[in-house]
Amino acid sequence: MHRGSPPDEHTEVVHMKIGFIGAGKVGTSLGKLFAHHGVSVTGYYSRTPQHAEQAAAFTQSNCYSSLADILDASDTLFVTTPDGVIGRIWDDLAALPIKSKCICHCSGALPSAVFASAEKCGARVCSVHPLLAVSDRFSSWQQLEGAFFTLEGSGAPEMAELLHSCGAQTATIAAADKARYHLAACVVSNLAVGLSHWGMQLLEQCGFTAEQAQTALTPLILGNAQAVCSKGPRDALTGPAERGDVETIRSHMACLSREDQALYALLTRKLCDLAQQKHPDRDDTALRTYLEGLL
Ligand SMILES: NC(=O)c1ccc[n+]([C@@H]2O[C@H](COP(=O)([O-])OP(=O)(O)OC[C@H]3O[C@@H](n4cnc5c(N)ncnc54)[C@H](OP(=O)(O)O)[C@@H]3O)[C@@H](O)[C@H]2O)c1
Repeated sequence: MHRGSPPDEHTEVVHMKIGFIGAGKVGTSLGKLFAHHGVSVTGYYSRTPQHAEQAAAFTQSNCYSSLADILDASDTLFVTTPDGVIGRIWDDLAALPIKSKCICHCSGALPSAVFASAEKCGARVCSVHPLLAVSDRFSSWQQLEGAFFTLEGSGAPEMAELLHSCGAQTATIAAADKARYHLAACVVSNLAVGLSHWGMQLLEQCGFTAEQAQTALTPLILGNAQAVCSKGPRDALTGPAERGDVETIRSHMACLSREDQALYALLTRKLCDLAQQKHPDRDDTALRTYLEGLL
């Protein structure tokens, strides 16, 4: 992975003419970010013309009624449709004059090679993935400024320059690592949501209402996230796995179904590895042996 550094405050405006196919959350937000930093946004083409009009008004750009028109007006195109549509849009774009254009998408899972045979067409390509949940078309763009973008493909150098000029950080990865990269994002976001849900369900089994469970666990969830982000996972780790407290973990297992015991044991084994880094002189054999017996 190559890491790019953001610019200082004197960074010059990047001269590109950027169009968006797909006026949804990411397309509208990225367009606003670029326009805010003085980069020329040509406008939007989208499935629902009204959405293209709204995004164009928000970014003071134009809306287009065909792929050919937005391509003609732009030297760089972002395909910000759902992942499953990107390949079909590419099939249509590849039949148009795209020589010397840079074609990007924002999927975390797909590589830039979804733009098949782009080199033969004389186009540069890039996957430009923001490591951020972009939840709103009109208010999320400000968070993109401090976001981290991961780039992959022949257009990565120019995308890095563009994003640095907008205050974002970037890293480049190899196409072969995209699935593993996207998995990392899912582990810390989606799986963490699943674990929070699991904890809330357990509190509900103790008589909490769903609302009480969420309120009660909020300081733990936020405190952990803050500690992990400021100190790193090893120093943020607390709890029975860190202390090697087998009896406490045994009492937890008594509350769980067979399937959930296996899940808890697997996750706790990961915590044992972390605890071992934190306390290399501690003998955790008893805990590891107990966990193995549950798997
Ligand atoms: N949202 C996130 O948190 C996030 C984060 C990182 C990466 N991404 C990636 O960003 C991309 C866009 O995601 P999103 O969340 O912005 O999705 P979204 O809000 O659902 O927006 C998708 C847009 O694509 C348009 N569209 C669908 N089919 C089309 C077609 N055939 N032709 C033209 N436009 C079409 C839709 O059109 P209309 O609205 O006009 O009907 C919609 O505006 C995806 O690749 C996703 O993986 C998303």
